[in-house]
Parts: sequence; C-alpha cells; structure tokens
Amino acid sequence: MRQGCAGRYLEPPAPVLLRLIALTLLLSISPVVSWRPWPNTTTTSAAPNSSDLLFGGSKKFEGSSEFVHMKYHMGPVLTADITVHTIWYGAWQKSQKKIIREFINSISAVGSKSPSVAGWWRTVQLYTDQTGSNISRTVRLGSEKNDRFYSHGKTLTRLDIQSVIKSAVTARSKPLPINPQSGLYLVFTADDVYVQDFCRQVCGFHYFTFPSIVGYTLPYAWVGNSAKLCPGVCAYPFAVPEYMPGLKPLKSPNGDVGVDGMISVIGHEVAELATNPLVNAWYAGQDPSFPVEIADLCEGIYGTGGGGSYTGQLMDGHDGATYNMNGIRRRFLVQWVWNHLLNYCSGPNALDQPKL
Ligand SMILES: *[C@@H]1O[C@H](CO)[C@@H](O)[C@H](O)[C@H]1NC(C)=O
Ligand SMILES: *[C@@H]1O[C@H](CO)[C@@H](O)[C@H](O)[C@H]1NC(C)=O
Ligand SMILES: *[C@@H]1O[C@H](CO)[C@@H](O)[C@H](O)[C@H]1NC(C)=O
Repeated sequence: MRQGCAGRYLEPPAPVLLRLIALTLLLSISPVVSWRPWPNTTTTSAAPNSSDLLFGGSKKFEGSSEFVHMKYHMGPVLTADITVHTIWYGAWQKSQKKIIREFINSISAVGSKSPSVAGWWRTVQLYTDQTGSNISRTVRLGSEKNDRFYSHGKTLTRLDIQSVIKSAVTARSKPLPINPQSGLYLVFTADDVYVQDFCRQVCGFHYFTFPSIVGYTLPYAWVGNSAKLCPGVCAYPFAVPEYMPGLKPLKSPNGDVGVDGMISVIGHEVAELATNPLVNAWYAGQDPSFPVEIADLCEGIYGTGGGGSYTGQLMDGHDGATYNMNGIRRRFLVQWVWNHLLNYCSGPNALDQPKL
C-alpha cells in the first residue's frame, strides 16, 4: 500500500504506534537493505520516527521469499472488466494527460512489443477471488473530469482527496459515473499541489471512499506530479536527490520527468487496487491496518537483479532513454509486482523467469 517512491500507504493513518510496531516487525524480518537513496536512518537519526522508518525502511523481499506470506483474506478483487476514471486536479498539459492515458490503455493492449505493459499486467491477473475468478485482463479508460481551478485548494489532506472525488461524482455537468464494482477512480494532482505527506512519506496511495463523505464506497488512488516538489524522491531514477552528488539521473522515456515518474506509481496503485480494492483481499503481513500489498513488495525493482541501490536490468532506447516495457507507441518504466506462484517479484522483462 505504501507507494513505490518513498512509500504509499493507507489513507486513514493507522495510529502511529501501530504503524511503528508493524514496521518494526517488517524491518526485523527483512534482511534486505534499502535500495533507495533515502537517508540511512541508522546513521541519520538516533531515534527514527515513523516517517524516518518509512523513508529508510526497506520492504524489498527479492530473494527472501521465505519471509513473504502473501495471503488472500476473502474480500473481493476486480474480476470484471476494469474501468479507470480519472480526475485531473489543477493545471495539466495535454501532452502530460496523453502519456498517462496511453499507459492505462496499454495495460490490456494486444500487440505491443514484448516486453509489454500487458505482459506486466499478466502477473496481476494471477490473483483470484474465492470463486477462483482471476483479476480482469481488461482495463480501460473511463470518463475524465477536470478540476482545473483547484476546487479544494493547493494543499490537500488525505481526506480532501475524497472530497475531490465527491465533487467529481456529484458535479452538475458530466459527473463521473458511479461504478463501485469495477470502477477505479484515480486522482492526479498537478505539480503545484501539495498533498499531506507527499514527498516525505508518499508519492501516491490507494484506499476506498467513505459513504459518509462521497456517498459510495469506491476504490480510488491518488498520485501526485512531483516535478516541482520532489522529483528526486518520487520520480527517481529520472531525478536524483540532492544528497546523492555524482549520481546521474536517467533519461526518461517520454520527456517529462514528473509524469514519467508518476507512471510507475500509477502502475503500483492500479495493481494493488485490482488485487485489494477494499483492503481485505490480497496482502501480506500480520496487521490489516498496515497491509503489505503486491506492489509494496517490489518497490524499486524494475528488472532482473533489482534490489539494494540497483534498479535491476533495464533497457536503453536508441535515444538514450531508460525503460523496461513497451506500451502502445510509448515506452515506460514500471516497477514489478509480486508473483505469488513463483514467490518473488516478476515482470515482463525478466531474464531468468518464465516469460509472461
Ligand atoms: C546504514 O548505516 C549502518 C551503520 O553505519 C550500516 O551498518 C548500514 O550498512 C547502512 N545501511 C545502508 C543501506 O547504507
Ligand atoms: C520525523 O521525520 C521527519 C521526516 O524525516 C522529520 O522532518 C522530522 O523532523 C522528524 N521528527 C522528529 C521528532 O525526529
Ligand atoms: C488465474 O489464476 C491462476 C492461479 O494463480 C493461474 O494459475 C492462472 O494462470 C490464472 N489465469 C490467467 C488467465 O491469468
């Protein structure tokens, strides 16, 4: 649930103590060191607080699969054709929307060159519900809503994201359709919007809306454009943090560092929404208030050998851009997800795994 960058996690924050305990458990069972260039909490802080732990803690389990018990908790998963409704909050350029739309459209595209985004989604399709039905192969773009004038301001709390969704589904003109069974609602905030914990702990998160706020229970996610606020955190490796002098950022495949960085976060959230839409289906860990979901386990792993400070084996385009999968017309860099049959992270560009 924590996000691919620094970490995304559940919207209503669990009591900090609980989270700390859960994290401590996780950290203590994980022998793997953090791959990310986050400050080393062991050295930077004598008494790390929860956000320090989220920063510095690693949940990279590649190669330590005996510790991961990805479990099904009997809740629903998205087995019917998935429709992704998007809310563009703030000022978005056409070119930026296009990159994100094409990524979402690529998830069930047929005929993209291998390794493909559709191949990446095949790992997500391996998850089933109690009746044995798999996650849907089909993910399509639904309706879109523009919230150009920042209806809830430029500084949002986590809960405000639900209010943004409420405005979109209750708008007088062209409200977003209500689709609790197979609809996903993605809120994308522009680069001048700060969302609670953005950059410090999260680059995105997913949860479901509360009937008391929105009127319905709808699975949703938020992903922010970090280009201005913290590209070194949320658009890594296309930007690197200041405290890593000498480390060169990689060239992003679609020429937009913030948006190219968002793509992997969107992939992370959509994969988790599909397998754990109401946070009672597929996750590992003892504590339901801090579930470790299928993308959490593979944060920062984009290719074979990923882990530590290494992204794994990636591909370089003739233009020097770095990516790991092909979509329709475009290339993307998307983190891998946990494969519960193999019991490790997998992706379409894996060199040493059964081809997906
Ligand atoms: C963090 O610092 C400790 C103590 O100096 C060191 O043992 C550990 O290897 C460091 N971890 C990383 C990821 O650099
Ligand atoms: C907790 O962590 C945040 C982010 O790393 C930091 O800004 C803050 O100063 C820390 N608080 C304490 C009490 O250490
Ligand atoms: C459905 O899930 C099962 C169990 O993980 C898997 O063996 C099967 O290949 C999946 N089917 C598809 C179409 O992905």
